[in-house]
Amino acid sequence: MTYRIGILISGRGSNMLAIADAIDEGRIGGAEIALVISDKADAGGLERAAERGLETLVIERRGRARAQHDAEIIEALNERAVDMVCLAGYMRLLSPQFIEAFRGRILNIHPSLLPSFPGLDAQRQALEYGVRWTGCTVHFVDETLDGGPIVAQTVVPVHADDTVQTLSARILIEEHKLYAQALRALAAGAYEITGRRVVINDAS
Ligand code: GRF
Repeated sequence: MTYRIGILISGRGSNMLAIADAIDEGRIGGAEIALVISDKADAGGLERAAERGLETLVIERRGRARAQHDAEIIEALNERAVDMVCLAGYMRLLSPQFIEAFRGRILNIHPSLLPSFPGLDAQRQALEYGVRWTGCTVHFVDETLDGGPIVAQTVVPVHADDTVQTLSARILIEEHKLYAQALRALAAGAYEITGRRVVINDAS
């Protein structure tokens, strides 16, 4: 049975493309991207998704209340019978209705080692705090800000001469690998979310 992934983006979509590459290279067995949705018509990732033959949809956030906007997205995802929703640089908070509709089936990637540095500008927060190590996290999405159960993390060093740009670039390389690894494990095996802990029984 195909594991159908819906991806939500707002920007350049490099994580979305990394997932698409991983699927094309057989690194996420049995998976396909059923739909890419952007809440912004000018998101760079849209064109790149379309170029590789993925179905894309713009559901503009502008002028729509969150609940109405989310209702349209939920409908589009349900029409494609999506198994997992992946947020990939999606910049709008999800409504409680959205989280309820896909509870335990929404993933996000965040450019820090959560629970450190949730929210915007995580790489800048890490630099300003002075940590020597940061990283990236794939986690399930619940009602909290970047606070849902953690699926996978990668540690990335902070260098003395790092800028937000250099650190972000180093983290991004790991994000691309981590999202694919997390999806591979979730798609392949049974898993349970027990409290905050995600226990994956990777059958592959
Ligand atoms: C990534 O750093 C991701 O961790 C964060 O937003 C950025 C999105 O980049 N949530 P992209 O659109 O996937 O290139």
